[in-house]
Amino acid sequence: MTHDSSLAPTLSSPMRPPLIPLSEVTERAGLSGLSSHLKDLRGWLDSDVLAIEDQLSALVAPPPEAAPGDLARRAAAHLLARPGKRIRPLCVMLGSRLGGERPAHHEAETAPREAVHDLAIAAELVHAATLLHDDVIDEGTERRGDSAARVVFGNSASILAGDYLLIEALDRVRRASERVPAGAELLGSLLNTIATMVAAEAEQLERRGRLEPNREVYLRIIDGKTASLFRWALGAGALAAGLNHEQVAAVRDAGTALGLAFQLVDDVLDLEGDTEELGKDLFADIAQGKLTWPIIIACEKRPELAVQLAELYANSQSGALDAADTRQFVTELQTTGAIEATRMFAREQQAIAEQKLAILPDSYSRRALGFVVQAAVERRR
Ligand code: IPE
Ligand code: IPE
Ligand code: MG
Ligand code: MG
Repeated sequence: MTHDSSLAPTLSSPMRPPLIPLSEVTERAGLSGLSSHLKDLRGWLDSDVLAIEDQLSALVAPPPEAAPGDLARRAAAHLLARPGKRIRPLCVMLGSRLGGERPAHHEAETAPREAVHDLAIAAELVHAATLLHDDVIDEGTERRGDSAARVVFGNSASILAGDYLLIEALDRVRRASERVPAGAELLGSLLNTIATMVAAEAEQLERRGRLEPNREVYLRIIDGKTASLFRWALGAGALAAGLNHEQVAAVRDAGTALGLAFQLVDDVLDLEGDTEELGKDLFADIAQGKLTWPIIIACEKRPELAVQLAELYANSQSGALDAADTRQFVTELQTTGAIEATRMFAREQQAIAEQKLAILPDSYSRRALGFVVQAAVERRR
């Protein structure tokens, strides 16, 4: 019997991640009120979250015998076994409960539990696949508080691992689509979402290192690479639950606003996060020549910062930026108010998400989603 020692400490660990990891994220950020609201979700979602975590573990559990082609699964297991926030599957689950209380004779319309689990798992798998690929593209070295899969298994294995997860995700959505009345749309919309994500990552790559701060381009890229999956996750849950066309459209719009807020905050954390807490490389966007919202705003407010950034790139030694000069640039950026402006913009997206959700009946799920959006904005990880 073969055993992969690199996976043993995590996959066989008796310690389960917290059921709603976002509650821990907010607690560590000192947001105890928000954290207790998110913890309240537990009693309600416990069995669903456990079922999803079990299926994610089973998907990448080491088989008793080494199997040909196992490298892709092992590299995927490396990422999946580490603690992610699981915000996208949470979106699917909450989306599937946004219909509010239903009259008893409509009981049959509620989404089948297994189908919702498949959709929730698919959302996490697509996300995990894009992380595996993104770390190759961005030369990321740390992910979820550990070495990125590409550091442990290599870039090629990391790409195959992402492909493996994408196929598994699509297969689960195909299965779910057979179990819900509006299922036909689910697979097509996920294919569109993945196409959008790929195009956005490609545009970002094309523009890498081009010093052309442009708000419109930035917003198009983050809508594609990040918001599109939040849009799908919330919309897929709502569609599976049988919400009407207008309601699904509103839920999808809320997903867009949540996703934009999520990426705006990700871009802030790249500049002022705590490496330990964040669990991934700091200043990665500057190192990769990505003009994120805080950088664009800082350069607009103080054009000499654009000059400083150009010099930083011009002085790079075999692709690596000078660490002290990078820190100096970030310190100056922080004095422009660009970070606060970006957080403010994320809060505006939070308000848009809440406004979109307001057309739905008041429900526990709708309120819970409000807390998830707030956590996306206030988080430090
Ligand atoms: C990171 O996503 C990539 C972005 C879209 C910003 P998350 O911050 O959700 O990553 P995990 O799943 O918690 O590691
Ligand atoms: C999000 O962008 C990328 C994906 C959608 C996978 P980033 O490149 O900012 O994500 P991180 O910061 O590496 O997690
Ligand atoms: Mg990245
Ligand atoms: Mg980032």
